[in-house]
Amino acid sequence: MRIAVAGAGRIGTMHAANLATLEEFDEVVLYDPAPGRARDVAASLGGTVTATDDLGALIESCDGLVVATPTGSHAELVRAAITTGTPVLCEKPLAASLAEMRELVPEIEASGVPVVVGFHRRFDPATVELYRRLHSGEAGTVYHVRAVCNDAEPPAREFIAGSGGLFRDCLIHDLDVIPWLLGEPVVEVYASGSVLVDEAFADIGDWDNVVATLRFASGAHALLSASRHDPAGYDCRMELFGSRDTLAVGMDARTPLTSLEPDGPRVRPNAYQGFQERYRPAYIHEMLTFAAIAAGEVDNPSPARDSLRSLELAEACEQSVHTGLPVRVGQPAPV
Ligand SMILES: NC(=O)c1ccc[n+]([C@@H]2O[C@H](COP(=O)([O-])OP(=O)(O)OC[C@H]3O[C@@H](n4cnc5c(N)ncnc54)[C@H](O)[C@@H]3O)[C@@H](O)[C@H]2O)c1
Repeated sequence: MRIAVAGAGRIGTMHAANLATLEEFDEVVLYDPAPGRARDVAASLGGTVTATDDLGALIESCDGLVVATPTGSHAELVRAAITTGTPVLCEKPLAASLAEMRELVPEIEASGVPVVVGFHRRFDPATVELYRRLHSGEAGTVYHVRAVCNDAEPPAREFIAGSGGLFRDCLIHDLDVIPWLLGEPVVEVYASGSVLVDEAFADIGDWDNVVATLRFASGAHALLSASRHDPAGYDCRMELFGSRDTLAVGMDARTPLTSLEPDGPRVRPNAYQGFQERYRPAYIHEMLTFAAIAAGEVDNPSPARDSLRSLELAEACEQSVHTGLPVRVGQPAPV
């Protein structure tokens, strides 16, 4: 498969490096409008990775496009790809606003071209196993979920302004994956946010520490938190409390957590420092699944329509922080 990667920044470079290790992809071609960037990244990766300056010709000639550009450009690139019938894996979020996404999703569905949204946790082996145990009934009725998503270090100041904010940039992964795991709608959110790390977040009306409560139609709850700074490392994990079992994702020998109990876990020198290493198996599985989807062999586990739900929840969280009130979303009403 000849695969194109648009955007040779943080995640585009990571995807290209991962793709270059997989025999399913014969050629990986990078495009980036920043002068020389795609060529430099291709040279540093070597092997099957090359670069081009002609994005239009690349989209028409490749077997699949990975969109790894800033969020504001996603809709335009996805449209360009589906117009030529090219399958797309688009980084999250699919579009910058709910209004834009409401226009784009019907266009994608009408085209019949596969568009996979890069919510990598849907491809993460431990999360997929949690999905299986929930949907087989092994975990029983869900009582509540707790989720943590902490970056080790805050992003560069230049990134903050274009990030979309902590709910859309970061917590959106939990807002996507938890309703997917539970298989039921959220009916109400309540959220709160603070600036404790860097006033640069306040300057753009964002927060660097947030919490959110989701109430599901069944009455189950999820308690979510995210921070732009965790001195112990990159900490992304989830605990699920059900009537038959209590299960965790993201608890392993590299989890950046120190228990004060004598036999509890300790932070180790190789604690996770970023999403690239914490979720490497998920990103690899994501690309292999994309190849299978493009070949028509498997169903799409992260379709465009589901992205409407997570962005709606992110916007509801922001509204809740601003008003200090819970926000009702979707139907039916809470029990
Ligand atoms: N799934 C995840 O875990 C994850 C993690 C990080 C970022 N992301 C998402 O990936 C996207 C990119 O984030 P990033 O951190 O890599 O950003 P980045 O700023 O590091 O890189 C973006 C790159 O895209 C290039 N670019 C800009 N406009 C372009 C265009 N029209 N066509 C092609 N290239 C273009 C820029 O020159 C830059 O090199 C964002 O939407 C972000 O939300 C997802």
